[in-house]
Amino acid sequence: MQATATSSSSSNATLQTSKNILLGVTGGIAAYKSAYLVRRLKDAGFAVRVVMTAGAQAFVTPLTFQALSGEPVHTSLLDPEAEAGMGHIELARWADLVLVAPASANAISRITAGAADDLLTTVILATAAPVFISPAMNQQMWQNQITQRNLQTLRDYQFHVIAPDSGSQACGDVGEGRMPEPEDLVAIVQSHFQGQAPTTSKTNQILKGKHVVITAGPTREALDPVRYVSNHSSGKMGFALAEACRDAGARVTLLAGPVSLPTPTGVERINIVSARDLLAVSDKIVDAGCDVFIATAAVADYRAEHIADQKIKKQGDSLTLTLVKNPDIVATIAKHAKRPFMVGFAAETQRMEEYARGKLETKQLDMIACNDVSRGDIGFASDDNAMTVFFSDRFGLEKVILDKASKKEIAARLVECLVHAGA
Ligand code: PMT
Repeated sequence: MQATATSSSSSNATLQTSKNILLGVTGGIAAYKSAYLVRRLKDAGFAVRVVMTAGAQAFVTPLTFQALSGEPVHTSLLDPEAEAGMGHIELARWADLVLVAPASANAISRITAGAADDLLTTVILATAAPVFISPAMNQQMWQNQITQRNLQTLRDYQFHVIAPDSGSQACGDVGEGRMPEPEDLVAIVQSHFQGQAPTTSKTNQILKGKHVVITAGPTREALDPVRYVSNHSSGKMGFALAEACRDAGARVTLLAGPVSLPTPTGVERINIVSARDLLAVSDKIVDAGCDVFIATAAVADYRAEHIADQKIKKQGDSLTLTLVKNPDIVATIAKHAKRPFMVGFAAETQRMEEYARGKLETKQLDMIACNDVSRGDIGFASDDNAMTVFFSDRFGLEKVILDKASKKEIAARLVECLVHAGA
């Protein structure tokens, strides 16, 4: 049945001129965030219709979504009255994009199985529009290999799986599985229509069939429960590379330090905090097999020897901290038995070529991209960069100079460089 609250509905003119988003809401506590999501999508100029599963209605009422979307809310497949209005096939055709947010583990499993036993699953089967899935669930359910296998199947079917956020969960657990903030989901939808999504990308598929792992952003090394050592990396360079590799046809896993960037569509994101987290996750992924490893992360070289259990109290005029060396992630992975093609970055402030070539050799890399981080207009946190790329001697390739350009453009050129070297 359709919810019956009276609120203004969109005119046909609106439906014809703006992009139509069909929002599927499934049963999970994150359903409350979807109410705000409807509002943000409408603010961004989209026409929104909502389909709710039975589970979703246990968390939020259809009336809420009807009031926010200005449209009847669709809840049932077998309701003659609703079918007479806009039936499941019309809904499937109306949508320019289907977004399921939150997508519960149960909904994901039913979509993966090709179920058509309620309105949402039926519309998903019947639509030709791209379908974006925003999983939200308990961190253990998220990690479960059944869930992960289902999501991989959906990716293989060309669904867009949006990586969940990490943090404290309604159930008291801490970990991955939170639905991203509505603003981030709106940005993902917008970037799809701006042609930045994989399905609309015009880029040459030079990395098709490759699995690329990219480290991005800073690491944080705790000193006590409230303080840490870190740096100014924003993650922009690594995220731009993730998009460039995705657009080149690769499957991309992005290992992201604490940054506030939305996850690029179609990219699997794993959040990490410290260098040791990053090494543990990298090691596991490389064990499972990948083709290219790109280390853009600004990993803290040192961490506190001891992390204080309690907040360090202010005493005296100075404080001495003992720091110990962190593992070198890229150098460790380069020695892995299943070594992928290894790309490092070098952040230098002087003697660029000498230091970059030194790192290329000591870390046993295939390629290294060097940037001058003493410049204010490129490097850390800037939207632009300029790089010089060096290759291992065994390729016999000349260095490549990439003049200042947006990190997006630099990333696309770096993808060409690594393919040029045989990645
Ligand atoms: O994130 P942005 O704000 O967009 O900024 C981008 C950037 C400036 C961070 C990026 O372009 C960059 O230069 N990244 C490398 C930063 C760095 O740590 O450089 P490095 O010269 O200290 O390290 C050399 C290489 O070893 C890097 O690939 C680094 O990821 C890796 N490394 C370093 C230390 C460590 N313990 N483990 C590592 O894997």
